[in-house]
Amino acid sequence: MKKLLVLGVLAVFTLFTASSALASKCPQPRKTKSAPAGTAKMDKTGSADAAAGKKIYTKTAKPMACKMCHGDSGGGDGKLGKALKPAPRNFACAETMKDVSAGQMFWIIKNGSKGTGMVAHKSLKDADIWNVVKYIREELMH
Ligand code: HEC
Repeated sequence: MKKLLVLGVLAVFTLFTASSALASKCPQPRKTKSAPAGTAKMDKTGSADAAAGKKIYTKTAKPMACKMCHGDSGGGDGKLGKALKPAPRNFACAETMKDVSAGQMFWIIKNGSKGTGMVAHKSLKDADIWNVVKYIREELMH
């Protein structure tokens, strides 16, 4: 009986560590600076193109594709992201993302989050940024 209990505890522990290796924490600690109020309220995703945004996220963003840090499905678990502190935002974590507006995302993508791995993406035009914001909000946030 005792042996079974030990095995059970071990199994749960293994499952837990395996699943936590797949995605970042949720809720995720977040100290990111807020966009100026006017920008935070902006939302131009209505006329944006999510498919074009997906290309930026998965392939073309410079210096590297967003997925390298934020992960294929937005879990904040990309190959390069694992070593970063603070960790890349986990877009799949609704509890953390519920207060992050489209305008806030736009602002950080454009200007970066100082002192973190999230650099400013100066090579993206504003329209490109709205496209990638739309892709993240429609396909990766849930
Ligand atoms: C080198 C790794 C890396 C890459 C590449 C990267 N990010 Fe990030 N990103 C981060 C980190 C780390 C944070 C967390 C910053 C913080 O805690 O303030 C972050 C945060 C964010 C946030 C959260 C803003 C908020 O207010 O919470 C958004 C949105 C975002 N990134 C979008 C993108 C997009 C879009 C791309 C590609 C164009 C991208 N990131 C590329 C590492 C990266």
